[in-house]
Amino acid sequence: MDIKQRAGGRIMRFWGRHGGVAQFHRPTGAVGHVAGWVMGRRSSNVARNRWAARLLDIQPTERVLELGCGPGVAIAALATRGTVVGVDHSAVMIRQAARRNRAAIRAGRVRLIHAPVAGLSIGDGPFDAALAVNTVGMWPDRIARLREIAGLLRPGGRIALVSQPRCPGATAATSAEAAAELSGMLTEAGFGRLRTEMLDLDPPVACVLGYLPDVAHDPSHGLSSS
Ligand SMILES: C[S@@+](CC[C@H](N)C(=O)[O-])C[C@H]1O[C@@H](n2cnc3c(N)ncnc32)[C@H](O)[C@@H]1O
Repeated sequence: MDIKQRAGGRIMRFWGRHGGVAQFHRPTGAVGHVAGWVMGRRSSNVARNRWAARLLDIQPTERVLELGCGPGVAIAALATRGTVVGVDHSAVMIRQAARRNRAAIRAGRVRLIHAPVAGLSIGDGPFDAALAVNTVGMWPDRIARLREIAGLLRPGGRIALVSQPRCPGATAATSAEAAAELSGMLTEAGFGRLRTEMLDLDPPVACVLGYLPDVAHDPSHGLSSS
């Protein structure tokens, strides 16, 4: 075994002892800080967050809610257009997101909330759009969470759920399965007009966009004329 392999083995054992992959579910302590540092700089992570923010096509007066915002990469992209509230249950991630978006926070364009996505009640709603990047799979009772998020959006509000499968051996087929699963959850939670986009990374990133019914414009949700 050469020196590189020994060093790699040591790093993996240290990583395993300190939570390993679980650190991406809820980064804590020094190792969580490293996990956030990686997420904030890894080119694939930065690319998928910026891509997802572009797909939401935020307009200057719009307000966006990001769930599981991690180190705040998507927030930085979203805040160039609208105003953003970011939520994460990791204090380490909220601190990193705050550092990354310091100027936008000072300008009142970004607010961060240290909380789990369950049972969120946020004063500054309703939101025009919501985003969740590589986090929905970590939530307990996901349909219930998505219904709660729907309740924080305005009628006609939109959502983008993003997934790049991280399991070993993931392929384009794994990403397509992830997209189908996200679509099913969104339908169950009351979203419609679903559209799936793919970003060509290895494996591809799936983004499923959906809309809530717009009561004012959708005749099937209006009062019936008698
Ligand atoms: C893999 S990271 C992705 C972070 C960020 N969206 C990105 O793409 O860079 C998942 C994030 O979701 C957060 N998270 C997971 N489950 C959560 C929950 N139930 N409530 C709030 N945040 C959660 C984690 O703390 C972590 O920051």
